[in-house]
Amino acid sequence: MTDQIKYQKNQLYIEGAPASDLAGKYGTPLYVYSANQITKRFETLKKAFSVLPKVKILYALKANSNVEILKHISSLGAGADTVSAGEIFLALESGFPPDSISLAGVGKTDRDIDFALTRKINVIIVESEEELKVVSKRAAALGRTARVLLRINPDVDARTHPHISTGLKENKFGINIDRAEDVAKLASKLKNIEFTGIHSHIGSQITEVEPFAEAAESIRKFVLKLKKGGIRVKQIDLGGGIGVRYKNSVRHKLLPIEKNGESTIDLPTLAKVIKERLSFPNCEIAIEPGRFIVAEAGVLLTRILYRKESSDRTFIVVDAGMNDMMRHALYSAYHQIVPVQLRDAKHEVVDVVGPVCETTDAFAIQRRLPKVKRGDILAIMTAGAYGFSLSSNYNSRLKPAEVLVEKDYPRVIRDADTYEDLI
Ligand SMILES: Cc1ncc(COP(=O)(O)O)c(C=O)c1O
Repeated sequence: MTDQIKYQKNQLYIEGAPASDLAGKYGTPLYVYSANQITKRFETLKKAFSVLPKVKILYALKANSNVEILKHISSLGAGADTVSAGEIFLALESGFPPDSISLAGVGKTDRDIDFALTRKINVIIVESEEELKVVSKRAAALGRTARVLLRINPDVDARTHPHISTGLKENKFGINIDRAEDVAKLASKLKNIEFTGIHSHIGSQITEVEPFAEAAESIRKFVLKLKKGGIRVKQIDLGGGIGVRYKNSVRHKLLPIEKNGESTIDLPTLAKVIKERLSFPNCEIAIEPGRFIVAEAGVLLTRILYRKESSDRTFIVVDAGMNDMMRHALYSAYHQIVPVQLRDAKHEVVDVVGPVCETTDAFAIQRRLPKVKRGDILAIMTAGAYGFSLSSNYNSRLKPAEVLVEKDYPRVIRDADTYEDLI
């Protein structure tokens, strides 16, 4: 639940800015973010993990990579977790120091690797033996030494949606834990490689501590095994994946209460679990949260184009589509949807759908909402992570603008596309 995005009387506000004014001024669909909500989430993490002696919070850019959001997060003291040369470029442009940036990804191109090496970022996270050899070659060609973490696949079930589960051995990610020792030995011998430590990322939107505990335990055993073989680990990166709540993000007496059933991770418990398992002398711990920092800070505002009644459904057709936010189309993700201006209206069960020519183009199926009409503005809540960053121009639709609000002051941080942008 966000305290920076809430109703004042019957109007939804993002910090000091009424959502309906923003929709009127900048048009819809429109992403709006609260800067203070991002700050609060980052500070919450920082506080919880301060029990670890050497800890770094690396923001996973893939969750939201708008440069102004990145500048805000870098100003809070975060490092950056990137997955492409493009993300490294954006991180550097946004003020993240090179030595706070890591590069992950199961399929890095030579160009990605060269970019990382020449920009002198902190570490490259290697996911296979072959990739390790390529990094060594590229580093030699460029006259550099690559600091490397090995991403291990601990074969842990993150108990999240299968499409965002990454730590099982059938997933494409990481080096199988059974093979990892040989790869670590190779890494510590190869020229132009400095083996620095271990990485693991078991999935996203994880809502229990247990999967992290299992991954941490697996890493602990592996680090001890390496130690026996004379290989020292200086950094352990436990990846991202801390889940958020998507239901009842905002409450009001005129809104239905959403049946909950959601859990979230207790951060102090998570920090304790990590501390207990991974406190090795002079070893730094990193985490790479994306969603946790930005999800709650964002809403997608969309205007109702039409109501359409069929024999057994009422469709609310809105002007945002799956190209603007595809989380529901991709993995049936749940987002609370609310009218930005509440009237004392009866509740009805509707499907909220977009204009795109795909049946999966929907934001909610059979959802209880206060009765709405053409022209009303809806807010799709908790849209700050994997919203705009997954958007596209599918159906040659123009990508929406993004606005960042700080106190009473909204500013456009990305213009909506123009037709010329389509060419
Ligand atoms: C390697 C890696 N790190 C961090 C993240 C961020 O995950 P989240 O946004 O769930 O925290 C991801 C997301 O897929 C990832 O693949």
